[in-house]
Amino acid sequence: MSDEQTGGKSHMADAAIRIEGLRKTYRGGRGQPEKHALKGIDLTVPRGSVFGLLGPNGAGKSTLINILAGLVVKSAGAVSIWGYDQDQNPRQSRVAIGVMPQELNLDPFFTPRGALEVQAGLYGVPKAERRSDEILELVGLSDKAEAYARTLSGGMRRRLLLAKALVHHPKILVLDEPTAGVDIELRQMLWANVRKLNEQGVTIILTTHYLEEAQEMCDEIAIINSGEKIAQDSTANLLGRMDRRTMVILPDAPVQNLPTAENVTAALRDDGNLVLQYHSNQTSAESVLESVRQAGIRIRDVRTEEADLEDVFLALTSSSADDLVADDPAQPRRGLHRVKL
Ligand SMILES: Nc1ncnc2c1ncn2[C@@H]1O[C@H](COP(=O)(O)OP(=O)(O)OP(=O)(O)O)[C@@H](O)[C@H]1O
Ligand SMILES: [Mg+2]
Repeated sequence: MSDEQTGGKSHMADAAIRIEGLRKTYRGGRGQPEKHALKGIDLTVPRGSVFGLLGPNGAGKSTLINILAGLVVKSAGAVSIWGYDQDQNPRQSRVAIGVMPQELNLDPFFTPRGALEVQAGLYGVPKAERRSDEILELVGLSDKAEAYARTLSGGMRRRLLLAKALVHHPKILVLDEPTAGVDIELRQMLWANVRKLNEQGVTIILTTHYLEEAQEMCDEIAIINSGEKIAQDSTANLLGRMDRRTMVILPDAPVQNLPTAENVTAALRDDGNLVLQYHSNQTSAESVLESVRQAGIRIRDVRTEEADLEDVFLALTSSSADDLVADDPAQPRRGLHRVKL
């Protein structure tokens, strides 16, 4: 359906989240300058996706998520959640989303079951539709249902935060660093639940500092840095943008001479394997192999390694891991020039 037919609403309806020109400036207290945590972010999260929001400490991820959750008030911009504008339809937009925050903000005097009941009440879930026991079971907290929250371990508190986010069956589930400091069992439980919920049609937005996790879990990724979005693409495309290649060669006999070729770095590893690094847009694999043959090395086996998300992330953000430097609008947008986007 075209925009004309729907009065311009069709493109709103296909996104889980649509953010335009989002800004957040925290007031500085105690002689501190104000902080521009978000500097005009545009972001669209497709429905049904597992969407990763990545960026170094202080990039603005939690600020963005807390604005979605209604916990932080934005300074400027428009946010629509499941097609509902946050300002015009605050109730519908709030009901569409469940947020597991980064901070452990639990009332110490509630039991897990009590906390879920209160949360269900806040969201107007009728008694007959409440599934507290089911959700406690899902997050592995059934045996702690009647324990005071203050007696729960850190990992159990995280489970309870996830349970609270699920109480009103939101269409969008947002997880802010769900696996920071949690044990392997909880991490596996979380990802199994995320996959299951996503299969049931829930859109997932998550932040994580474990890039392997993001690479494995997310269909699409946005990278933010110093309050600005510096990349957004499918995980596959993001990885495809990096043209750095590593070729590892298992030689037939111990290597006597390292191959030499322009724009190729060669090194011998302790295990006797030869490691060659090059850029695929500068150098062909054929010419790398040719230089190996010219050095008199016979190749028993060969494999190549492509860049992973960590490489992409570092290339995009490493030049600006300087949150301590005051914001200077005269400075060029840092990081962007480091890789071709
Ligand atoms: N309540 C606040 N008052 C003032 N400044 C704040 C406040 N909350 C966050 N900030 C600042 O805003 C910036 C963004 O913080 P935010 O918590 O959104 O980062 P983040 O990307 O979630 O980082 P992390 O990976 O460490 O969780 C930081 O410089 C932070 O110091
Ligand atoms: Mg954060």
